[in-house]
Order: sequence, then structure tokens, then C-alpha cells
Amino acid sequence: MSPRSPIILGTGSYAPERVLANEEFSRSVDTSDEWIRTRSGIRERRIAAPGESTSDMAVHAARRALADARVSAADVDLLVVATITPDLPMPAVACIIQHKLGLPTAAACFDLNAACSGFLYALDTACAMLASGRYHRALVIGAEKLSAVVDWKDRATCVLFGDGAGAVVLGPDLEPVGSQRRGLLGTRLGTYGDSVELLCIPGGGSSMPPSAKSVAAGSHFIKMKGREVFKMAVRAMEEAARDLLEQQGVNTNQIALVIPHQANLRIIEAIAQYLELPMDRFFINLDRYGNTSAASIPIALDEARRAGRVKTGDIILLVAFGAGLTYGSALVRW
Ligand code: ACO
Repeated sequence: MSPRSPIILGTGSYAPERVLANEEFSRSVDTSDEWIRTRSGIRERRIAAPGESTSDMAVHAARRALADARVSAADVDLLVVATITPDLPMPAVACIIQHKLGLPTAAACFDLNAACSGFLYALDTACAMLASGRYHRALVIGAEKLSAVVDWKDRATCVLFGDGAGAVVLGPDLEPVGSQRRGLLGTRLGTYGDSVELLCIPGGGSSMPPSAKSVAAGSHFIKMKGREVFKMAVRAMEEAARDLLEQQGVNTNQIALVIPHQANLRIIEAIAQYLELPMDRFFINLDRYGNTSAASIPIALDEARRAGRVKTGDIILLVAFGAGLTYGSALVRW
């Protein structure tokens, strides 16, 4: 990263009001609170209100992040939105969010789809664009309305996902603390594109345009081979974390907090074991939100900060995997 590399100036998040507890599923599918809790660690998730869109949730999170950063919407010249559930197939939800937030028309606004790894991909992209010197202040948002693409009759997937949004504001470090470089220290992103079919929405794109037949077959819903995804997730997240720590010459003792993608407590426990890090060094909120895909890390980061678990100078490890299969890690000095 160049000397111009930005820092995270503020964070914000938003979760819809409606809480859907595990118990409620037993009315519609053959499952139980006990099964969901022991297999995933999830107790409840938030579900967007009818008419509440991904952009609505993103705007709440972004306003909170801008207020936290004390940055005006007028000063943002770059918006990157990580999502797999944009309001519309076209145009990008970033355009809708730009208008709702009142960002300048001179701001570059686009979406990025790397599924649950999306926030890390977006963070890396925005930091690189800021470090180029051509942009000055960026909003990076992870926002998802997964309730819109979940098959509520498929017990193997519907119990895992939730809705929400998280955001960060990036910009120059105007009050440097000490001589240590803050902000994004490095990333390690990757993809196993041979595993698309393990986790995908097969219908609705150009290979299977929406039709009465594709809708009747439920092809527009998330399909997942959970067991296989589980194994690959553990392997990919461990690889991403280890490679990055080695690349940056950082050892696990120096990491104040790990903020992993919040998909499954057992996946996080396996990674903790492989990295030989105690579980109290991991921030967990999946019990309350389930898997919110690209929103999961920025929501967790915001909650961790507001809970006092991230202090100036701390080194934080972010690590994720998602459909693609994409995966990645990022090291941030706060
Ligand atoms: N309630 C009760 N039983 C269930 C449920 C449910 N909700 N879902 C599945 N089962 C059953 C299965 O049918 C299976 O029954 P069988 O043995 O008779 O065939 C049994 O439970 C065991 O199923 P497994 O899939 O082996 O269960 P597992 O222990 O692997 O847990 C889980 C399933 C939670 C999905 C796990 O595999 C997992 O978390 N995988 C990773 C998924 C993930 O993180 N996906 C997000 C990716 S991120 C993104 O980009 C969106």
C-alpha cells in the first residue's frame, strides 16, 4: 500500500426490526430450535419488512457510518456496494443508494458480487482506488436481503440466512497516532471457481432466464450443498488467514480480534482450532443475525467497535468465504 493508504474513519450497521426466532420455523418445515442451534449456532435472525429493500437497509447503515466518521455525504466520491441481492437486476443498487443518500453525481458508484466475501473484496477495491490518489473518501457497504432469495420450504438453507447492512467510511488519516501505519495492511483474496454448483442461485441469470418453468422449479432460490461448503469454508478461511499473516510478518499473538464471516459457529470453532487462537479472540454475533452474506463482517465490525473490542492500534483480522467459492482475508490496524 502507498503512503496514501486510507483508514476506516467510521462504521455503521442496521438490522431490520423483525426478529425471526428458530422456534418459528417448526411451524413451516421439519426442524427444531435444537437442531439449528447445535448445527449452526444461530438462535434468531432479522427479516426485512415487506417493502423494505436492500437499498433502504444500506442507507440506514451508511448514514450511521457517515455520522460516526463525521464525514458529509457531499464529500464521498466513491461508493462500492457488496451484495448478491440488489434491489433490481439492473442498474446497480449503488446508484439507488447514491440518490437516497444524496452523494454527489460526480461520485463513482458500483456494485460488487463476491457473495459472503463481498465486503472484503469491496474494502480492498476501495482502498486501492483511494490509494491511487484519484478518489478521496469512500463508502463501502455490505447489504443483503437474503429473505428474498431463500426457499422458505427448504429446511437445509432457510434456517441459516438473515437480512441486514453494514458500512464503513474510508479516508485519509488526518490525525496520525504514533509512527505506525494504520488502515488496511494487506489482503489475501482468492476463488475456487470449480465449485460454483456447491452454492448458487441457478435461475434468473442469462444461462437460465426467468420463465414460468424456472420459477415453478424454484431455480431463483439459493441452492447449497452444506456439508461440502462447510469443508471448503474451513480450508479456504484457514489458508487465507495463514497466507496473509505470513505475508505481513504478523503472528497470531499480535491479533487483538478476529472478525470472521458469520455463517456457522462450528466453522469458526474449527478455524480457531487450526490457527491455535482462543475463541474469545473471535467476535461472534451470528446467534442473533444468522448469515447475512456480504453484510456479516461490516455488521460485526460495527458491533465490535461499539462494544469497545477494537481500540486504536489494534490489529484486526477479517476473514470470509462465500459462493463462488470466493474467500479472503484482510489485516487492518485500527
Ligand atoms: N432441521 C433438521 N434437519 C435438517 C435441517 C434442518 N434445518 N437441515 C438439514 N437437516 C438434515 C439433513 O437432511 C440431514 O439428514 P439425513 O442425514 O437424514 O440426510 C441431516 O440433517 C444432516 O445434514 P448435514 O447437511 O450433514 O448437516 P451438517 O451437520 O453438515 O449441518 C449445515 C448443515 C448447518 C448447513 C452445515 O453443513 C453448514 O453450515 N455448511 C456451511 C453452509 C454455509 O456456511 N453456507 C453459507 C455460505 S456463504 C454464502 O456465500 C451465502
